[in-house]
Amino acid sequence: MSRVEVIGNATLYWGDCREILPTLPKVDAVITDPPYEAEAHTAMRRTNKSIRSGENDVIDFDAMDETTRQTIALETVRLCHGWALLFCQVEATSSWRDAMVLAGAKYRRSMAWVKPDSSPQFNGQGPAQGYECISASWCGGGKSRWNAGGKRGVYEFNCNHGRYGGHPTEKPVPLMEALVADFTDAGAVILDPFMGSGTTGVASHRLQRAFIGIERDPRYFDLACRRIEDAQRQERMFA
Ligand SMILES: C[S@@+](CC[C@H](N)C(=O)[O-])C[C@H]1O[C@@H](n2cnc3c(N)ncnc32)[C@H](O)[C@@H]1O
Repeated sequence: MSRVEVIGNATLYWGDCREILPTLPKVDAVITDPPYEAEAHTAMRRTNKSIRSGENDVIDFDAMDETTRQTIALETVRLCHGWALLFCQVEATSSWRDAMVLAGAKYRRSMAWVKPDSSPQFNGQGPAQGYECISASWCGGGKSRWNAGGKRGVYEFNCNHGRYGGHPTEKPVPLMEALVADFTDAGAVILDPFMGSGTTGVASHRLQRAFIGIERDPRYFDLACRRIEDAQRQERMFA
């Protein structure tokens, strides 16, 4: 079952990306934040329950599995003729690299999103996790190219910068804007098959890129629609 909403230059699908991706046209980039690995989901559930309140802070979607990883890698390489950026925990960088290379992409780097405001290790038994990785592969022909010259692949942004709220793993908009600016050109079409609350879509809109997003959970799909509509309305108000 699926539903499509077209909001300005954003096309949002409610449904399972494994079924929707084979129906999509080519895109210029895939920028996405898939579910993390099983052990991270369990750890985050534990941490969220113990230090926060409110249902929206609990991870309530399934972890990544190997069959889904391979399907996403194959569909990404088939659809995309530019960069594929995939968020992942550091322990999963080699799994994503191998899946993308096997699917035919040129793996370039696992970059870091450094989070100065991430939680400390409350039990004091070891260092806290202060960053996530972003696996970057080139799916186009010829040599890879981006807009940031010799810059290092390190992005430092607070996790809680201007949260919209309502999704447990919402990414900061400024981080997504930096990635969109560095890895795509104005007018590009960006695909996010795991769009959650639509942060990639908001960043794409703000930087004049078209967006295709897919989300399976109807609550997050509705949230993404609202959020992208708000972003477009705000722009019209200030135009
Ligand atoms: C890590 S979250 C993305 C959060 C997003 N970056 C944001 O800022 O809100 C991953 C999302 O993928 C969705 N998801 C998981 N499996 C999916 C599938 N097979 N098809 C579509 N969406 C899926 C989950 O419901 C979840 O909202």
